[in-house]
Amino acid sequence: MLMLLILGVLLHGVSLSGQEEASPKAEGIPGEPLFNYASIRLPQEHIPFFLHNNRHIATVCKKDSHCPYKKHLENLKYCWGYEKSCKPEFRFGYPLCTYVDVGWTDTLESAQDIFWKQADFGYAGERLEELHVLCQPQEANDSGLVCSRYLQYCRAANLYLDLRNIKRNHDRFKEDFFQSGEIGGHCTLDIPTLMSQGQRKSPLQSWFAELQSYTQLSFRPIEDAKCDVVIEKPTYFMKLDAGVNMYHHFCDFINLYITQHVNNSFSTDVYIVMWDTDGKIRVTILARSTEYRKILNQNELVNALKTVSTLEVRIVDYKYKELGFLDQLRISHNTDIFIGMHGAGLTHLLFLPDWAAVFELYNCGDERCYLDLARLRGVHYLTWRRQNKVFPQDKGHHPTLGEHPKFTNYSFDVEEFMYLVLQAADHVVRHPKWPFKKKHDEL
Ligand SMILES: *[C@@H]1O[C@H](CO)[C@@H](O)[C@H](O)[C@H]1NC(C)=O
Ligand SMILES: *[C@@H]1O[C@H](CO)[C@@H](O)[C@H](O)[C@H]1NC(C)=O
Ligand SMILES: *[C@@H]1O[C@H](CO)[C@@H](O)[C@H](O)[C@H]1NC(C)=O
Repeated sequence: MLMLLILGVLLHGVSLSGQEEASPKAEGIPGEPLFNYASIRLPQEHIPFFLHNNRHIATVCKKDSHCPYKKHLENLKYCWGYEKSCKPEFRFGYPLCTYVDVGWTDTLESAQDIFWKQADFGYAGERLEELHVLCQPQEANDSGLVCSRYLQYCRAANLYLDLRNIKRNHDRFKEDFFQSGEIGGHCTLDIPTLMSQGQRKSPLQSWFAELQSYTQLSFRPIEDAKCDVVIEKPTYFMKLDAGVNMYHHFCDFINLYITQHVNNSFSTDVYIVMWDTDGKIRVTILARSTEYRKILNQNELVNALKTVSTLEVRIVDYKYKELGFLDQLRISHNTDIFIGMHGAGLTHLLFLPDWAAVFELYNCGDERCYLDLARLRGVHYLTWRRQNKVFPQDKGHHPTLGEHPKFTNYSFDVEEFMYLVLQAADHVVRHPKWPFKKKHDEL
């Protein structure tokens, strides 16, 4: 089984309050359920299994006239199979083998056992048994780190991440992404045990590369105000295998599902962070909400860009009422290739980083305007080259001057567009200031 890993991280500790959340004392006030049942995002037929493993919620449900799961309360003996309290005859399922694949094992029982542990809920059971504390909280609101063997699955609380000095490159999972002190928590760290878990260090098999620099901090990240951003929502970190097709996505998300079981939490009110340390080329397309110079086949162009995995595409409309000026600057400054039709919005090229390229998709015959501005700013400029591969909607209607190329909309040949964008990308990655250059590029 493909092991793709998920780090269930609770960045701001709520510790065990979930258990107390719904006090069984209070009898149902009309109109107010005692528990947020909607947070249990499981299909109806899985509810009995969930309640078996969450008796405190079953108890609340019994007393709460609003509980939608009353009919399941008689079935509490049913269980997923990984719980200590689970009797084999009541478990969700168990594999049935009819022949033994020699080479794997020699009895039907052991074949079933292997399947159970590698491809069924037995897998969650083994991870649960392996869990051990690597960083022990000492006081209320301390951090914590608990992992299964080889750091295949980890859960952290009040995790401190310092992203100020991190260096990205063209590795999707850069191994030395964190240096000592850049990841850690206020808790007592068991360094020998942590360091003994490295046998499976490899991007899709373990979080060892990221967590080996986990540091016992002398300060408390939140209370001592060391964080400028505090994320309170439960957050999953996951590394995707390929992220390119349905098969691989199923592999990725089965791991997310297993993690829900290992952590016994099925809310979908969570963040999911896709872990990727690759420095992608950030393409910003400036859309226009005016009557003229619209890109008629913008979707087609964007879809073509999205097929190139090294590009990260964003479409923006710089209307200050919808997007504040500071946000506009932030986006421009975090753009490597800036694409837009001839128009005032292109003035934002002034705020691009030094290695950026601006692609004036079509200059409508006004050749020097943004070419000069780009030259003055010192960023690379390119524009459409082939007249036979750009298609105006009509001849254009200037309010007083008649036909005019700035007063119509355009569509563009997709292949030619991609050719030009890739030229721009080439400029970006060759630029001496481009921050994600591979080390050997510099030799
Ligand atoms: C723990 O954190 C909560 C929420 O931030 C705060 O109200 C409380 O005072 C903290 N307790 C301690 C002992 O620091
Ligand atoms: C994992 O479980 C803990 C304890 O119930 C919960 O507080 C936390 O939100 C869960 N984490 C995620 C990512 O759902
Ligand atoms: C350009 O497109 C916009 C929006 O679709 C439309 O309102 C406008 O009339 C079009 N202009 C021309 C010249 O066809």
